[in-house]
Amino acid sequence: MGGMLSPSVMCADLLHLYDEIEMLDSLGVEFLHIDFMDNKFVPNITFDTNMVKSFKKPMRTIRRDIHIMAFEPQQFFDAMEISKGDMVSVHYEACEDAHKVLADIRSRGASPCLAISPDTPVEVVKDFFSEVDAFLLMTVYPGFAGQPLAPKSMERLKKLKELVVASGKDIKIEVDGNVSWDHCVEMRENGADIFVAGSSSVYGKKYPLDEAVRVFYSLVK
Ligand code: DX5
Ligand code: ZN
Repeated sequence: MGGMLSPSVMCADLLHLYDEIEMLDSLGVEFLHIDFMDNKFVPNITFDTNMVKSFKKPMRTIRRDIHIMAFEPQQFFDAMEISKGDMVSVHYEACEDAHKVLADIRSRGASPCLAISPDTPVEVVKDFFSEVDAFLLMTVYPGFAGQPLAPKSMERLKKLKELVVASGKDIKIEVDGNVSWDHCVEMRENGADIFVAGSSSVYGKKYPLDEAVRVFYSLVK
């Protein structure tokens, strides 16, 4: 299976979102990356829960890839209408009991994913192999688009891949942050499966969105 794409909608043309989501859907893009921020866990705000819910409207096959950068994320699940088909990432650093939150996501028929920030040792994932469908490795400090790669991101990705392979579980690895045209190739080589593509690639200035998607897939197949 080739690399999967999750365009980061916070980098999209916000005044043409509906059309862009329809286009991504028609291009067979697997996920739409929706960053939700509470202005506490990270000093920023993007979309409210109502907007996160409404992203489902234009979707036929593309899935919501909801990245919740908020403390106690389970408080938002009802308002976001988390349900079957969604992949939901919650931060290890933001949950009192991450096991309980991940189980809540699973109980709604959605795919639980544990996100870890750049300063969190990748070894923490060892306690979650039986509870997640994916890990989200933050390759920038969460909260803002347009940042440079966090230190040691490629080494961390390699280490995470080793741990997942050793677990024997079919767990995907998603990378999020400065997934640039160059970095995505190296990230694929180091074990990434799902690529959050934002301002440093598909939403950059190099190609129109449809061509950028095609180029991206050619780089991570
Ligand atoms: C950062 C967000 C990312 C970001 C990716 O907290 O999670 O989705 O928007 O965009 P770039 O490619 O600009 O890092
Ligand atoms: Zn994100």
